[in-house]
Amino acid sequence: MIKILGIGSSPRKAATEYSLEQGLKAAETVPEIETEMIVLRNKNLPHCIHCDRCIKEDSRFCVYHDNYDKEMYEKFYKADGYLIASPVYTMNINAQLTSFFNLLRPTWNVMQKNPAYFWDKVGAAISVGGTRHGGQETTINSIHGFYYTHGIHVIGGAETYNGGTVWSKDNLKEGAQSDEEGMSTVRAIGQRLGVAAYQLNHDKETNQKLLEELELY
Ligand SMILES: Cc1cc2nc3c(=O)[nH]c(=O)nc-3n(C[C@H](O)[C@H](O)[C@H](O)COP(=O)(O)O)c2cc1C
Repeated sequence: MIKILGIGSSPRKAATEYSLEQGLKAAETVPEIETEMIVLRNKNLPHCIHCDRCIKEDSRFCVYHDNYDKEMYEKFYKADGYLIASPVYTMNINAQLTSFFNLLRPTWNVMQKNPAYFWDKVGAAISVGGTRHGGQETTINSIHGFYYTHGIHVIGGAETYNGGTVWSKDNLKEGAQSDEEGMSTVRAIGQRLGVAAYQLNHDKETNQKLLEELELY
């Protein structure tokens, strides 16, 4: 099976989580795709303090803070694809997702040993704002920036442009549910992500052979 990990960063079980569920359901319409959703609610993720201990100690995890959910990060390392959903906070991703991303600084160690570690993985984004044009696209850009820093293939599409963009009208799950146009972008990005993950995973042997033959820059 091909594993897509959904990551939802809202501190509430509300519009973002509902939208992410819908996106993951759409990904599952593609054969062989299985999904799992994790949410950052109540995870109390600490902030990166740039001590560089993870780099010096060649760790896969943050070593300064050790009281956080490492199993969740192990899932991140193992997944074939990602669907990350954030509420829009001041036209950007929220603090919970920023912390989640920054605690992944140790991926640097992994990529030093294997630069291509993330190259056969795909990623897509969903953002949910209270206002129709409240920064959904700028929020998605931040999520895409995270993918770029890892060499994860970023997925978009004509039916959805840069991802799922939802207008919740600040009305929790019901608000997202009633945004038909937004939900159609969520379904489109979820399914496009599933198709891309399927395609890349079916070419794994050819891809691996190519990387072995190339001298990587
Ligand atoms: C601190 C904060 C900042 C926000 N900033 C924006 C914003 O810039 N643009 C916007 O459209 N909505 C903004 N909102 C509204 C949320 O994006 C919106 O209510 C969203 O649906 C929350 O997702 P949730 O229901 O999954 O928690 C903000 C909400 C909070 C709490």
